[in-house]
Amino acid sequence: MRNTLIAGNWKMNGSLESVTALVDGIKAGDRGNAELAVCPPSVYLMKIGGMLADTGIALGAQNVCQHESGAYTGEIAASMLKEAGCRYAIVGHSERRSIYGESDEMVAARFQMAIENNIEPILCIGETLEERQQDKTIDVVYRQIDAALAASGIEAFAKSVIAYEPVWAIGTGQVATPEQAQAVHASIRQKLAALNADIADQVQILYGGSMNPGNAADLLSQPDIDGGLIGGASLKADDFLAIAQAA
Ligand code: PGA
Repeated sequence: MRNTLIAGNWKMNGSLESVTALVDGIKAGDRGNAELAVCPPSVYLMKIGGMLADTGIALGAQNVCQHESGAYTGEIAASMLKEAGCRYAIVGHSERRSIYGESDEMVAARFQMAIENNIEPILCIGETLEERQQDKTIDVVYRQIDAALAASGIEAFAKSVIAYEPVWAIGTGQVATPEQAQAVHASIRQKLAALNADIADQVQILYGGSMNPGNAADLLSQPDIDGGLIGGASLKADDFLAIAQAA
């Protein structure tokens, strides 16, 4: 039986004042039975990690460098994220792929660096609208998973989370239907099951893309949707908690 994970991707939003208020709000509220994680901007990780001590709410980073250390201005090493208390690191978010040019291979190297440092990568995959219209959805998500499999092997997925995030649904208010999402999630699990049935059965596959308190219950009731990666709706404690309660 897979636990439900509701993870907030705060992206580049907030201020010291607003993120501490957000954490206080999340800590104070009812989160149902879901596991929770928050992924703040990296400059706030240490502060928020301290605030989350003993709450059971996990800390995650929004990315991780593919190199151990050295001359990589602006990047953050997995060992540093570990020191900051991160359990998770998002890798391959579509904004990183499309705005910052991260290739499948680079994302796979970042994924591998998280694994080596005992950080659970949240591997984001998903198709653009054009790719969906051309019936390429499964090809695209399989290609993105294949890159991580080539770098790290199927065993790495025992310590990873996958987030299926159709690019056309991210930040647009245009959510995938529960049936659309379930179909892709089932295909992802099937692909992994061909390599290792136990790992495929236990890996959490989150849905991301305009999930909110109004649509979360229907999405989360699907058999292969094991949680959510939440952008906009994770910036309000009440909405984030309502999604967790819907799980
Ligand atoms: P959204 O973002 O919930 O605002 O659509 C999801 C994400 O990008 O992870």
